[in-house]
Amino acid sequence: MDSSDWELEELEAAFQEKVGAEKRIEPKDWMPDKYRQTLIRQMSQHAHSEVVGMLPEGNWLTRAPSLKRKTILMAKIQDEGGHGLYLYSATETLGISRDEMFEQLHSGKAKYSSIFNYPTLNWADIGAIGWLVDGAAITNQIALCRCSYGPYARAMIRICKEESFHQRQGYEIMMTMAQGTEEQREMAQDALNRWWWPTLMMFGPNDANSANSAQSMKWKIKRQSNDDLRQKFVDATVPQAEFLNLRIPDDKLKWNEERKHYDFGEIDWEEFKAVVKGNGLCNRERLQARVEAHDGGKWVRDAALAYARKKESRKAKAA
Ligand code: 3HC
Repeated sequence: MDSSDWELEELEAAFQEKVGAEKRIEPKDWMPDKYRQTLIRQMSQHAHSEVVGMLPEGNWLTRAPSLKRKTILMAKIQDEGGHGLYLYSATETLGISRDEMFEQLHSGKAKYSSIFNYPTLNWADIGAIGWLVDGAAITNQIALCRCSYGPYARAMIRICKEESFHQRQGYEIMMTMAQGTEEQREMAQDALNRWWWPTLMMFGPNDANSANSAQSMKWKIKRQSNDDLRQKFVDATVPQAEFLNLRIPDDKLKWNEERKHYDFGEIDWEEFKAVVKGNGLCNRERLQARVEAHDGGKWVRDAALAYARKKESRKAKAA
């Protein structure tokens, strides 16, 4: 083994020891290239999910049932955009540019969460998204607050504070409708029927089929497995559905006294794979909306850059 291999081995051992000791890895620290690549993959896809996630809810901004609901939804959508910006900034610390990440998203190379490729058919969907999708995101993101990479963990701590408002406002919409007229109740039940299983898919494939989990757990990027987080979400959400007197669309859902967890049915992994591959109900529409928004916003970026350059050159002349 030549000295560079030996050196690399030493560096990797020291890195793993640091992670093992629960020490945060910061941008300037040495890190294995694969660690860097895994973080760029996961963090940029997380950022894409936040930004694309604004679209399904944006669809109901102009049709919110009251000014109060409209302002709450507006605040939530703005939060999601901010989460995307935190996460793009945190990902840039790993050496990838914003433009590169956008190119990966707009060309269809990068993934974003499958959940955002489902249509929002009526106002109850806005409740189901807040309650279930943001509830699942919180379950996943609380674990990420302990991620070994400093900028990601810190972004998560900040994002989780806002997510709890998102989940509560969604649950309140569902409560209002579940306790409203018969028609509103049916809308709430129909939304739960359509969003339940796609929400469980947000946690990723079963651990046995997760290509990245083992290594991500070793590097403490992932602190709990896909299946463990999914189980945690189901255990927390079933009682909430019971309180609303809504039925979760899973005949196999049953409390298991021995396991102290809910047993639940099998996810339709063919549907999951099809949506991740781009064949969901709204994949094309979502990507087209993102590309059009990005292209349509070019003049704003150019103007901001021109202004910044002008300011810079004035400062340089004055110095
Ligand atoms: N949608 C799309 N792709 C998915 C997916 C999903 N629901 N679940 C898994 N995948 C992809 C993975 O990205 C991976 O593909 P890749 O290697 O090409 O990136 C492949 O399926 C295999 O999955 P793994 O479990 O091996 O991949 P990971 O270890 O990356 O785990 C994950 C998947 C649990 C989603 C993990 O990436 C993660 O925790 N990401 C951060 C959280 C996140 O992105 N959440 C998305 C929602 S954000 C949100 O909801 C915002 C809220 O405010 C509404």
